[in-house]
Amino acid sequence: MKRKQNKVVRGERLGFSSEAAKRVEDPLAIEAVDYVEIFAANAKQTAYFYSAAFGFTPVAYRGPETGHKEAATYVLQQNDITLVISGPLTLSHWMAPYVMIHGDTVKDVAFRVPDVEAFYAETMLRGARSAEPPTIWRDDEGFVKRAAIYTYGETVHSAVERKSYKGCYWPGFVPYEDYFESISNRGECGLQSVDHVVGNVEEGKMEYWVKFYEDVLGFKEMIHFTDEDISTEYSALMSKVMTNGTSKIKLPINEPAEAARKSQIEEYLEFHHGPGVQHVALRTDDIIQTVTELRRRGVNFLRVPKEYYEHVPERVGNIKEDLDAIAELGILADRDDDGYLLQIFTKPVHDRPTLFFEIIQREGSQGFGAGNFKALFEALEREQERRGNL
Ligand code: FE2
Repeated sequence: MKRKQNKVVRGERLGFSSEAAKRVEDPLAIEAVDYVEIFAANAKQTAYFYSAAFGFTPVAYRGPETGHKEAATYVLQQNDITLVISGPLTLSHWMAPYVMIHGDTVKDVAFRVPDVEAFYAETMLRGARSAEPPTIWRDDEGFVKRAAIYTYGETVHSAVERKSYKGCYWPGFVPYEDYFESISNRGECGLQSVDHVVGNVEEGKMEYWVKFYEDVLGFKEMIHFTDEDISTEYSALMSKVMTNGTSKIKLPINEPAEAARKSQIEEYLEFHHGPGVQHVALRTDDIIQTVTELRRRGVNFLRVPKEYYEHVPERVGNIKEDLDAIAELGILADRDDDGYLLQIFTKPVHDRPTLFFEIIQREGSQGFGAGNFKALFEALEREQERRGNL
């Protein structure tokens, strides 16, 4: 039998598209934070907390009813923020010992990328530790690809490619209302996007992880805070802010510095049993409205002393918000050359003094509120002392 000959067509030479040129500069091409995943002992109640107290809408679900017998996952959204809450149902699931050791915690800060295989191959070449090789999930609505690499502790960065998926969040998930009648309909709280995610690492390990973000993910050091910038009478810490090429992703890393007493970072490391995400900062365009709503729904925030507000006018200058409202709500203000920012920090959201949230409104400033560090850390230490951990 005569073998069919494939006609070879001489390839046409192509120029570099601007998209391809960008990829040569930054082969990882991280676009945004795709989702933040929290592991929780009781995912159902944790999802309820974030929907009722923080204004997230439950949009998708996967669990025993959908054939996923060992774990339940709730997907919550508010504007550009996706929060994924997962919990184990059986002792044999690997998430069970995970939440026992670390408590409820952020497991995954996932990046959206245009090409998962390219992200994985490139980060592996650059020395990353694999957490999940590129994997494809498919259903009638298309497919999603994901790979993951480890960062500090047992935290991972997934890379997610979802441009070919039209369904509800992820193949295998069903719309939340298919299984649950009641959706918290208290409305959103004006939270818009993930502004930054901060990690706590062990003393002496900050440089190691700074190098990891530089070498493996191509991030750059944006700001460096020394222990002189961040110290109180009792404790100190150091921090470096790492950012990707587009400056969209900002990941500060903290380490404890030597001081008279135990720092909040050491308290975290003790209760979390190792490094992990300390806080997730969520951006709002109207912090007064957002914090008023969060307080009304029972979210607890750190308080700074009243005297803090006496110095705000001279330190921060003119701001468009009403200073009395800012003081009443306990919101902090800071200014740098580019503008000002308003921020506030919740108390830990779980029993262990580990994960908390920051709400931030940026009016030009791309900083992190360095002028507030002292007042803030003193407030943190008052809480730490109440817990008997200072
Ligand atoms: Fe922050």
